[in-house]
Amino acid sequence: MRSSSLITTASLLSTVVGAINAANSTNTTSIKKNAALLGFDYDYIVIGGGTAGLVMASRLSETARVAVIEAGGYYEVDNGNYSTVPGLALASPFLSTAEDYPANPKMDWGFLSASQPHASDRIIHYPQGKTLGGSSALNTMAYHRGTKGAYQLWADLVADQSYTFSNLLKYFQKSSHFTAPNLTKRNTPNATVQYDATAFDNALGGPLQVSYSNYVDTTATWMARALQSIGLPESTVGFNSGVLSGFGAWITMTIDPVNATRSSSQTSYLEHVANHKNLDVLSHTNVTRILIDPFSKTAFGVEIVRQNGAVNFLVANEEVILSAGAFGSPRLLMLSGIGPADVLKEHRIPVFSNLPGVGQNLWDQVLVPVETGVNTPSGAQVEANPVTNAEAINEYLKDAAGPYSSPGAYIAFEKIPQELRSNFSSEAQSALAWFPSDWPEVEYVGGSTVNSDGVSQGVCTAVLVAPLSRGNVTIVSSNFADQPVIDMGWFSHPADREVAVAAIKRCREALASKEVASVVTGPEVVPGASIQTDDEILAFAEAVATPIFHAAGTCAMGKKGDPNAVVDTQGRVFGVNSLRVVDSSIFPIAIPGHPQSSVYMLAEKIADDIKSSTCS
Ligand SMILES: Cc1cc2nc3c(=O)[nH]c(=O)nc-3n(C[C@H](O)[C@H](O)[C@H](O)COP(=O)(O)OP(=O)(O)OC[C@H]3O[C@@H](n4cnc5c(N)ncnc54)[C@H](O)[C@@H]3O)c2cc1C
Ligand SMILES: *[C@@H]1O[C@H](CO)[C@@H](O)[C@H](O)[C@H]1NC(C)=O
Ligand SMILES: *[C@@H]1O[C@H](CO)[C@@H](O)[C@H](O)[C@H]1NC(C)=O
Ligand SMILES: *[C@@H]1O[C@H](CO)[C@@H](O)[C@H](O)[C@H]1NC(C)=O
Ligand SMILES: *[C@@H]1O[C@H](CO)[C@@H](O)[C@H](O)[C@H]1NC(C)=O
Ligand SMILES: *[C@@H]1O[C@H](CO)[C@@H](O)[C@H](O)[C@H]1NC(C)=O
Ligand SMILES: *[C@@H]1O[C@H](CO)[C@@H](O)[C@H](O)[C@H]1NC(C)=O
Ligand SMILES: *[C@@H]1O[C@H](CO)[C@@H](O)[C@H](O)[C@H]1NC(C)=O
Ligand SMILES: *[C@@H]1O[C@H](CO)[C@@H](O)[C@H](O)[C@H]1NC(C)=O
Ligand SMILES: *[C@@H]1O[C@H](CO)[C@@H](O)[C@H](O)[C@H]1NC(C)=O
Repeated sequence: MRSSSLITTASLLSTVVGAINAANSTNTTSIKKNAALLGFDYDYIVIGGGTAGLVMASRLSETARVAVIEAGGYYEVDNGNYSTVPGLALASPFLSTAEDYPANPKMDWGFLSASQPHASDRIIHYPQGKTLGGSSALNTMAYHRGTKGAYQLWADLVADQSYTFSNLLKYFQKSSHFTAPNLTKRNTPNATVQYDATAFDNALGGPLQVSYSNYVDTTATWMARALQSIGLPESTVGFNSGVLSGFGAWITMTIDPVNATRSSSQTSYLEHVANHKNLDVLSHTNVTRILIDPFSKTAFGVEIVRQNGAVNFLVANEEVILSAGAFGSPRLLMLSGIGPADVLKEHRIPVFSNLPGVGQNLWDQVLVPVETGVNTPSGAQVEANPVTNAEAINEYLKDAAGPYSSPGAYIAFEKIPQELRSNFSSEAQSALAWFPSDWPEVEYVGGSTVNSDGVSQGVCTAVLVAPLSRGNVTIVSSNFADQPVIDMGWFSHPADREVAVAAIKRCREALASKEVASVVTGPEVVPGASIQTDDEILAFAEAVATPIFHAAGTCAMGKKGDPNAVVDTQGRVFGVNSLRVVDSSIFPIAIPGHPQSSVYMLAEKIADDIKSSTCS
C-alpha cells in the first residue's frame, strides 16, 4: 500500500496522555493547573481531524502549539484500496444508504436518520467520515466551486463582503494545487477538457491536489452528449470560475496525479505541516464535551475519551476550534451547553449560551437516477469481467490509468427550463425565486454502471441543488454515546417535489435524444416505462432518493442578533469566548454542487483571520 509511509511521518501522539482525570471537571483552576503540570496544554485544540480540521491544525501549527483530536485512525490502514483508489470511491460497502447497511465503525459514524415522511417513510444511513481526513477520505473526489451569485448571497446574508467569490478566490487558490490533464492517458479526443488555468495559483503552495481522471468512460462520453443535446453545452472554462448554470464539464477531482490516488485533507494538509513538532495528532480519541468556564463563559479545553476508556482533559490557552462536521459539531455544542435552551434543559445540561439555531437549518441535496441499457463499453463493465479486470488493475498499478484511476466525471447544471417550469405551481415559482439567477436548481451527473448480465447502463442522475426543504439534528440525552437524531426533511417543501419530477423528465429527455439513439438500447430500466404520470414520477423519487452527502448549515454563520445564527463571520460562537466552529456546519446556505472546495477555502480563510489577529 503506497500511503503507508504517511503513518510514520505524521506526529502520532498515541501514548502520551496520562491521567489528568484526577481533576475535578467543575473546577477550572484545578484542570488548568494539572494540565499545565503534565504538559497537556496547547495554544489551540482542534476537535475533529477531518476536512476543515486538518486545514486548521496544519495552518495554526505553523506558529502555535496545536493538538488535533480525531475519533478515527488512518484510512489507508482501516479501509485500504477502497479509500485510496479513485475508481473504488463509492465501492465501500458501508457507504450504502439502506437502513440495514453493513456497518464499518472504524470509518463511519453510523448515523441513521429519522424516518422521512415524504420519502416513503424510509430511514436513511447517512455516512460521515470517522478517520483522519474525515469525509474527504470517503468522498467521490469531485472538486468544483459554487457560483458568484451563491457567494454573493452568502456575503449579503452574513453582512460581510469578504465572502464574495472574488474575495474568496485567494483562499480557494491557497488550498489547491492544479495539474492539467494528461491527454495521453485520457486518450479520448471527444472528451477533451476545457479549463481556466487562472482559477488556480500553484505559486501559493496549496497542498490539496486537484487534477483530472486519467481515464474517460466511453458510456460517459455519450451521457455527456445526451446532456449537451438538451441545451447544456460544455463550458469553455470549467467549473472553478464561478459559473455553473447552463453548462456541463469534465470536472476537476481531488486526485494526486502522479499515482492517481485520493488527495484528502490527510494526504495533503497533514503531510504538509511545516512544523510537525508543534502538532500533536490524537487519533482514536473522542471529544465528549467542550469545557467552558461558567463564570467567564470561556472555552478552555476539552474532555476526551481514549480507546481504553480513560477520560482525560486537555487545555487550550488560546482557543478551542470545533471541526466535527455537519452533524458532529451541533451535537457537541449541545452536549457542551450551547444550543436551544429548551432542549438542553430537557437533558439537564447547563446552558452557557442559548442559541436556538444549533442543529437547525440543515440543507441536504437529494439525488434520483434514470438508467437505460446502452451498447457502449463502460468502466464498470470492464471491472465486472475477471479477464478485463485483471488488465485494468495492472494498468492502474503500472500507469496510474484505466477505470480504477477515475471515479467518473461529467456533470452539468441548470435551472429547470421554461417549458417545464411554466407548469410549476405559483408557490413553487415564487419560492424558487429566492435563489440568485446563476444558482442552478439541478445538477446532472452523466455516468455508467453495469447490470447483472454484464451490459453497460447509461445513467443520468439528477441532484436537487436548490433545495427548499430544511432538516435538523438534535440530541436525545446528555450522553455522547447516544447517537444524534438527524431529520433531513426531504421533500417537506412542496417545491422540491415539483423540481424532482421536472428533473427526472429532463434526464429522460436527454437519454431519449436522437444524438444518443445509436447507443441507447432501451427500454428504460429506471424508473421504467410504467412510471409516467407526475404522481408516479414523484412516488418513484420519494421511494429511491438518496443523499449525495452534502449536508451543511447546522451551526449557521450569521449576523449578531439573528436568532438562528450560531457563529459570526469568523466562526466565533455567539455567547462563549475562545470557541470557534469551522467546517461545513457553518455554511449559512449550502452552495450549489459539491461542497469540499468551499470547506477547504473556509478553513484557510478563518485560519488566516486567527493568525492575522494574533499577529497584530
Ligand atoms: C460518501 C461521500 C461522498 C461525497 N462526495 C463529495 C464529492 O465528490 N465532492 C465534494 O465536494 N464533496 C463530497 N462530499 C462532501 C464533502 O466530503 C464534505 O462536505 C466535507 O468533507 C465535510 O467536511 P467537514 O470538515 O465539515 O467534516 P468532516 O470532513 O466529516 O470532518 C469531521 C471530522 O470530525 C471527526 N469528529 C466528529 N466528532 C468528533 C468527536 N466528538 N471527537 C473526535 N472527532 C470527531 C470526524 O471523525 C471527522 O474526521 C461527500 C461526502 C461523503 C460522505
Ligand atoms: C468538585 O468541585 C465542586 C465545586 O468545588 C465540589 O462541590 C465537588 O464536591 C467536587 N467533586 C469532586 C469529585 O471532587
Ligand atoms: C479548585 O482547585 C484549586 C487548585 O487545585 C483550589 O485551590 C480551589 O480551592 C478549587 N476551587 C474550588 C471551588 O473547589
Ligand atoms: C490493493 O489492490 C492491489 C491490486 O489489486 C492489490 O495488489 C493489493 O493487495 C490491494 N491492497 C489492499 C490493501 O487491499
Ligand atoms: C502522460 O502519460 C503518458 C502515458 O502514460 C506518460 O508517458 C507521460 O509521462 C505523462 N505526462 C505527464 C506530464 O505526466
Ligand atoms: C468518443 O470516442 C471514443 C473513442 O475514443 C468512442 O469509443 C466513443 O464512442 C466516443 N463518444 C462519442 C460520444 O462520440
Ligand atoms: C508513486 O508510486 C511509486 C511506485 O509505487 C512510488 O515510488 C512513489 O513514491 C509514489 N508517489 C507518490 C507521490 O505517491
Ligand atoms: C467514540 O464514540 C463512538 C460512538 O459513540 C464509539 O463507537 C467509539 O467506540 C468511541 N471511541 C472511543 C475511543 O471511545
Ligand atoms: C404539467 O402538469 C400536469 C399535471 O400536474 C401533467 O399532467 C403534465 O404532464 C405536466 N406537463 C409537463 C410538460 O410536464
Ligand atoms: C425537526 O424537523 C421536524 C420536521 O419539520 C420536526 O418535526 C422536528 O420537531 C424538528 N426537530 C427539532 C429538534 O427541531
